[in-house]
Amino acid sequence: MDPATQAVIEVSDLVKVYGETRAVDDVSFEVDRGELFGFLGPNGAGKTTTIRILSTLLKPTSGGARVAGHDVVAEPGEVRKRLGLAMQTATLDAFSTGRETLELAGRLHRMPPREIKRRTDELLQLMGLEAAAKKLTGTYSGGMKRRLDLATALMHRPEVLILDEPTEGLDPQSRTALWEELERINAEGTTMLLTTHYMEEADRLCSRLAIIDEGRVVVEGRPEALKAAVGADTVVLQVGRSPDADGAQGSAEDARKTEFCTLLDGMVPCEAVAAHDGSVTLAVADASAAIPGLLRRLDGHGLDITGLQMSRPSLDDVFLQYTGRHIREEAADQPIIMGF
Ligand SMILES: Nc1ncnc2c1ncn2[C@@H]1O[C@H](COP(=O)(O)OP(=O)(O)O)[C@@H](O)[C@H]1O
Ligand SMILES: [Mg+2]
Repeated sequence: MDPATQAVIEVSDLVKVYGETRAVDDVSFEVDRGELFGFLGPNGAGKTTTIRILSTLLKPTSGGARVAGHDVVAEPGEVRKRLGLAMQTATLDAFSTGRETLELAGRLHRMPPREIKRRTDELLQLMGLEAAAKKLTGTYSGGMKRRLDLATALMHRPEVLILDEPTEGLDPQSRTALWEELERINAEGTTMLLTTHYMEEADRLCSRLAIIDEGRVVVEGRPEALKAAVGADTVVLQVGRSPDADGAQGSAEDARKTEFCTLLDGMVPCEAVAAHDGSVTLAVADASAAIPGLLRRLDGHGLDITGLQMSRPSLDDVFLQYTGRHIREEAADQPIIMGF
């Protein structure tokens, strides 16, 4: 097989059972060399359990996995040599300095002393931790701890980097900084698998992702393709009150819907029009292309449009379509323009 296109992570029919819980329930996927692959799912979906099996920390109940060409159960030592791992909770020793932490990781990987020194200096600089190198990691901020943890995982120049919820709990600024770091590491050729329950993170970073729920992969693909498959964009128009719609709210909304169906005849099919209190929602294939024409038509009929919003399907919409739920309970509380 051509090593340039070979799957670097191969997971087949993986199962992990804890008592009654099927934490991982027949999961299969492949990650090709150079990919940044995401495992997106809510808490309890089975992400950490899968990662722990891939990184040889846990044995599967059945099924198997290979990382960088080696079986995680039969050849754990070979896998660990080629793997960098940053787990959900940073595993730093608060009484070591940043430099000592990296040097220790180098010794654990049996790197030669000169290479340890060189690589430590290089990573401290890359991660912007030079100034903090002599400080105890217990004094580091959340973002600095994550960057040091990432540097530790990269110490032995692993072929594959596995990250469990790399930006969990970080403020938005540190999160963006870490995203840029991860993109840079991936661009330099490291194959990456990361788990996340942040759909924006998966959307921004991953070339391909699997959405996982209750131990199963529900759908897999490129973020753009997954979102496009959900279908339409949404355009919400805020409309001034029409003077003749004074009856009960229901009938006023019906009247407005009929009015828009007629006005937009030939542009937007009637099934794609919904009227609410003070606004009209349209489902259209490509909102940015459709809006100018829509506005010209409506303006031509003297309609008073006081506001306009558009939204594209998000990965949360993808998750909703496949599972009937939102990825996070909090996601349901965000202002959703589509709220019917
Ligand atoms: N050591 C364990 N013993 C029993 N149940 C576990 C253990 N680890 C995880 N689980 C259960 O397995 C499921 C998947 O957990 P986990 O892999 O941590 O999910 P995620 O990382 O996606 O939040 C959950 O229902 C969790 O409670
Ligand atoms: Mg987890």
